[in-house]
Amino acid sequence: MLTNPLLLITIDGPAGAGKTTVSKMLAGELGYRYLDTGALYRAVAWSVRAASVRSDDDQGLGEICEKMRLRVGQRRLVLNGVDITDRIRSPEITMLASVVSARPVVRQALLGIQREAGRAKGLVAEGRDMGTVVFPEADLKFFLEATVRQRALRRYAQYGKAGDQTLERIEADIRRRDDDDSGREIAPLKPAGDAVVIDSTAMTARRVVDLILTLVGQYI
Ligand code: DC
Repeated sequence: MLTNPLLLITIDGPAGAGKTTVSKMLAGELGYRYLDTGALYRAVAWSVRAASVRSDDDQGLGEICEKMRLRVGQRRLVLNGVDITDRIRSPEITMLASVVSARPVVRQALLGIQREAGRAKGLVAEGRDMGTVVFPEADLKFFLEATVRQRALRRYAQYGKAGDQTLERIEADIRRRDDDDSGREIAPLKPAGDAVVIDSTAMTARRVVDLILTLVGQYI
């Protein structure tokens, strides 16, 4: 009997483009594992704040990364025995994750963890540099984008009303993060040359997933 081959699929893109929703749906429907690499940078940011290390202290950052024992489950992220899944979503950790992710020492430390997760195929990996740096040999690469306004509206619908952030504030933070993530020297946010770019501005997550599933079907 012929079975479908297990693939490594990468989904990159800026904040709020729908990567997480789409990646989780896609992994669920294909029966694949899901890897949220942004959560790893958030875990570093969490440790940096907890240890009061400066974000430009490369030696301190290196020591933090060395000591980090991360358990990356499908739903929970456990750092040195503490479940930090929900604590890493605050605006402060979000901005700090972007800052520490520009430091080569941090990117290098996380590279091994990510590649290890991708050794067994049947994985949807989401981030900023999945298709360009971490998994250049991935079977299928996607890059999701959407207008800044649309991405801010999505974030606002997700957290904004419950939290204390205005739409304008969320939009300003997204713009800043876009600039930082795409302007940095190492592993900047950009589509891989062989990525399929999907503008999700006017698309529901369902439609994006259906489009990707069609392309997966053509690939296998
Ligand atoms: O996807 P996210 O918002 O959880 O990511 C948080 C930050 O981590 C983001 O601003 C940039 C960084 N990041 C990265 O540099 N490379 C990745 N592969 C994933 C995230």
